[in-house]
Amino acid sequence: MQQISRRQVLKILSVLILFVNPLNAVAATPIGPNLKCTHLGQTVIWRNKKYTCIKSGKKLVWNKGISIPKPKASGINATKTPVPSNTPRPIYSPELEEYVVAKSLDVKLNQPMTVNNPSLNFPSRGYIVVRRESGIIVFNNRCTHEGAEVEVSDGKLICFRHLSYFDSASGTPLSGPALRNLAQVPVFERDGTVFVIDAH
Ligand code: FES
Repeated sequence: MQQISRRQVLKILSVLILFVNPLNAVAATPIGPNLKCTHLGQTVIWRNKKYTCIKSGKKLVWNKGISIPKPKASGINATKTPVPSNTPRPIYSPELEEYVVAKSLDVKLNQPMTVNNPSLNFPSRGYIVVRRESGIIVFNNRCTHEGAEVEVSDGKLICFRHLSYFDSASGTPLSGPALRNLAQVPVFERDGTVFVIDAH
């Protein structure tokens, strides 16, 4: 039988160690569903950590990752039953249009929700609808940093492009590179329906 070289023995041992030691196994697991790091500086968010692609020798590998900071509390409290009400329609110029964004009962108290804009002229436009004790507020879902989409995640408003967090009650930036509040959109409720007024 052919003799196994010392190098081959070492190789086999290192593979065995990888499988026996669970900590090593985790470190060797690619981030996400087999996501490879393909260029220097590439970032990815996985399980609440942000990983950056770095150079290790000649290889590109993911760094250890940093935990995504939790945003400051927004002061919003527990959920209650929504309170649909008719509110006065804001005065607006004729070049603006009313859009239905939700049924009043679907907008739960203190539970922000995202809604796509039904305007054909603005297919990528969307809103974040928030019901507070004082009434409904609607934000444009474009991040005030570089215009990426702001999403609702676990009740928080987050732009994942560069990790900006916004207060869901006021649209104020809480952390990350965005410095300006999310833009508010005029909103009113009529007969159990929530409308916004926006360009068409
Ligand atoms: S575009 Fe939103 S944080 Fe940069």
